[in-house]
Amino acid sequence: MDLDSGAGLLHRLTSYVPDREWDVPVDDPRVRHDLVPNDPGTRPPQLKAYPDGLPVVTLPRDLPDPGVPATAVLAGVESPARPLDAAQLGRVLFLGAGVVRMTERDGRRHFYRAAGSAGARFPLEVYASTRGVAGVPDGVHWYDAAAHALVQIGPAATGAATTLVLTGVPWRTGWRYAERGFRHMYWDAGTLLSQLSAAADSAGLAPRLRTDFPDATLRDLVGADGVHEHPLALLTFGAGEPAIGPTGPATTGTLPPVEFPLVTTAQRAGERTVLGEPWPRAAALPDHPPSDSLDEVVLRRGSQRLMDRSRTLPRAALEWSMTAALRGVEIPHWVAVHGVDDVPPGLYRWPDLATPLRAGNLRAELERICLDQSLAADAAFVVIAATPASTLDDRGYRTAQLTAGLVEGRLHLAAYALGAGASGMTFLDSEIPALVGESDDLATLLFTCVGVPEYASRAGGRPGAPVEVRQITPRIAGA
Ligand SMILES: Cc1cc2nc3c(=O)[nH]c(=O)nc-3n(C[C@H](O)[C@H](O)[C@H](O)COP(=O)(O)O)c2cc1C
Repeated sequence: MDLDSGAGLLHRLTSYVPDREWDVPVDDPRVRHDLVPNDPGTRPPQLKAYPDGLPVVTLPRDLPDPGVPATAVLAGVESPARPLDAAQLGRVLFLGAGVVRMTERDGRRHFYRAAGSAGARFPLEVYASTRGVAGVPDGVHWYDAAAHALVQIGPAATGAATTLVLTGVPWRTGWRYAERGFRHMYWDAGTLLSQLSAAADSAGLAPRLRTDFPDATLRDLVGADGVHEHPLALLTFGAGEPAIGPTGPATTGTLPPVEFPLVTTAQRAGERTVLGEPWPRAAALPDHPPSDSLDEVVLRRGSQRLMDRSRTLPRAALEWSMTAALRGVEIPHWVAVHGVDDVPPGLYRWPDLATPLRAGNLRAELERICLDQSLAADAAFVVIAATPASTLDDRGYRTAQLTAGLVEGRLHLAAYALGAGASGMTFLDSEIPALVGESDDLATLLFTCVGVPEYASRAGGRPGAPVEVRQITPRIAGA
């Protein structure tokens, strides 16, 4: 990856360093200096808007829970196939992108979706290009998460198999994180896909993930303009040819016209013109611990804001959740262990827990590296995804970020299935090569904190009935 152009340049210019606050742009004309982060006056809407009058399918609000343990799904155990009808499609969409919680402050509602999103910015949209789904006409539909409904925005595509298309809206996350929001779109696509795939797997729908696809075709299919909205990934139900060939124009909908030129360039640098193979299905694990159903675990999941550093997690929880989260994943991972029974504190290169790269208490160092966020010190263990930049091209960079998000999402589900808590975590890029003993070529992707929760979040609500929650503020060192 060339650090002077495309995704490499974006990575370099959006890297956090200790001597510059995270919300201060780097001194380079290629990033925007004219935007005020978190400005209430420019806050983007949480959802895309479409004109009235488009055909709408209201999805059933009773979700057909197949009752499969979350741990069985994460372990890759195959579930009996259920028909893909409106209710099942709605369940899959809801367990990834549905509105499960909300806060209300100053008369303004903020929605929280089923899958986590860095800074709760939720910059993604999901479209379903349907084929033969009982109760849903063949066509291209936008998932209206607030209404739990499908809005038809385009005619039926060519191709045989119903396919979900994930897109990202840079401004929705860039409003707070500026150009670094490019990374966030892919992280969040990963967490969302971890839940969409798990929901589909638990209904035996054989989801197939593709991260290589013809970008222009997908933009045309869903009406994304390639500046304010970008296609990120495809998830197809079954082995058929994905239904992604546009047969007519899509209604484009409305998004605020704010562009980050560096993001547009990074995205374009990785464009492809042909459809790639789906990710291979990884082998199932030989065993899995008992747990509640996936649907229950997804609704219970939230990002744990406070972890109890005086309590530890069992070694089996670390080993099983890492093994399950990394099924089929080749990106290197490290684990900083703070409080795990029978694993001495220190830094480990997964899967080797026998020989620490560094032994000792790393809580203070992790807290500093995670911008003084105490979750990184209070967690029982912190998982670090990173890969050599020189092994990536512009497309590979996108896929690496998405993969790290997918692992974060699976770690999250595993934690909540096993009674632990988790949170995604950002970091000072410049500090990680020294932490893990690698060269400066290492591109750090994402951190995940897993630990003992200090409180239990209220379970999320059902479609159309998000539960109202109070925001809990995480601890910041020295604050
Ligand atoms: C990729 C990713 C990165 C995150 N980074 C941080 C972080 O640096 N600090 C933090 O406190 N929470 C972090 N979070 C947690 C989000 O703030 C949280 O997911 C969001 O507020 C939505 O809340 P929920 O997960 O409880 O639904 C991150 C989440 C994700 C998915």
